[in-house]
Amino acid sequence: EKGGYDYFMLKEIAEQPKAVADTLLGRIDGAGNLTLDEVRISASELREMDKVVIVACGTAFHAGLIAKYAIEHWTRIPCEVELASEFRYRDPILDAQTLVIAISQSGETMDTLMALRHAREQGSKVLAICNTNGSTIPRESDAVLYTHAGPEVAVASTKAFLTQLVACYLVALYLGQVRGTKWGDEIRAVIRDLSQIGGAVERVLETMEPVRELARSLADKNTVLFLGRHVGYPVALEGALKLKELAYMHAEGFAAGELKHGPIALIDQDLPVVVVVPSPRGRSVLHDKIVSNIQEIRARGARTIVIAEEGDEAVVPYADHLIRIPVTPTLLQPLVATVPLQVFACELATARGNEVDQPRNLAKSVTVE
Ligand code: M6R
Repeated sequence: EKGGYDYFMLKEIAEQPKAVADTLLGRIDGAGNLTLDEVRISASELREMDKVVIVACGTAFHAGLIAKYAIEHWTRIPCEVELASEFRYRDPILDAQTLVIAISQSGETMDTLMALRHAREQGSKVLAICNTNGSTIPRESDAVLYTHAGPEVAVASTKAFLTQLVACYLVALYLGQVRGTKWGDEIRAVIRDLSQIGGAVERVLETMEPVRELARSLADKNTVLFLGRHVGYPVALEGALKLKELAYMHAEGFAAGELKHGPIALIDQDLPVVVVVPSPRGRSVLHDKIVSNIQEIRARGARTIVIAEEGDEAVVPYADHLIRIPVTPTLLQPLVATVPLQVFACELATARGNEVDQPRNLAKSVTVE
C-alpha cells in the first residue's frame, strides 16, 4: 500500500507532481481557458460579492493565507482568512455579498463545519475546497471544488496542501474572470505557469538528499525558527507546523519583517533558522530586506538554512545551508518552497525515532470542536 516507501507521508510527498496536475485536469479547455463548472454559484452572484472570507484549520489555514495574496492581487476583492475555530465566536460580519471559502482535506473537520454553518445561517454562500468526495463539508456547502489529490493517509498534510493551493489559485482566477479584473491572456499565462509546477516539484524532489542529511544533523536541537515574507510567510508557518507535529520540536514561523519587533531576541549561537527567500525578480525590495535579515541572523551566530530560487546569488555568502528551488512566478512560489520543508520535517521525525504517519496525540480528521 505504501508503494515501496517506508511511510505514507513519503509516498504522498512523492505523489505531489501528479496531484497538482490532477487538480488542474478537466478545468482548462482546449484553448487554455478556465472552466470551473463545479462552482455552482452564478456569475451574477459572484459579481455581487464584496468580500471573501476563508475559514480553515492547520495546514488548510496556511493554504488560505496564501490564497489571500492571489485573490486580492488578481481580483481586488478584500479577503480575510480566519481560523475556523475562532470564526463564529466573534460574531463575524457576514451577508449575501460575502463569499465564504471553506478549505478542508478531510471535509469532516468540526471547527470548519461549524464555521460554514454559521456563515450560511447569515446568508453567505459557501464554496468548499475539499479532497474527500461526499464528505460533510462539501455536502453542506453551496458548491465544491475537489482537489483530486487522492487519499491522504499520513496525519501530516502534504499533497492535500499543494492541491489546495492550486484550487485556490483557480478560484482566484475564476473570480477575476467573471468579474472582469483578469483577462483571457493573463489567465492563460497563469494556467500555463500552474501546469509547469508539477515538473518543478519533481525537480525539487530530485535534489532532497542534502536536506535529509541536514535534518539528521539537527536531530538533537530543541528549537527551529522559520522566516518568510509575502507568500513565504505562510510557508514559514507551514514549515513550523510540520516540525511541531512530526518532530515534536519547538518551532515557530515569523514574518521576517517582525524579527526586529521581538523575535530577534531568540536568536543565539547555533540556533537553526530557516529562511524562505522571495524571488529577486518582481518584488525585489522584499528580497533585499530578507537578505539583510539573513545577515543579521548570521551575525548573531545562528545557523542559516536558506531556501532560495536558482540563480539567486545574493544569498550565497550568508547561507550555511542553501536549498535551491526552481524559478516560479512570485505568487506560485509556495508550491515549490513548501516541499523541502515537508522532507525536512519527515526526516527529522525519523531521526528522532518518531512515528511519522501517526504522530502522538493527533488524528487525521478532527471531528470534535
Ligand atoms: O482535514 P482538514 O484539512 O480540515 O484538516 C485541518 C487540519 O486539522 C490539518 O491540516 C492538520 O493541521 C494537519 N495534521 C497538518 O499537517
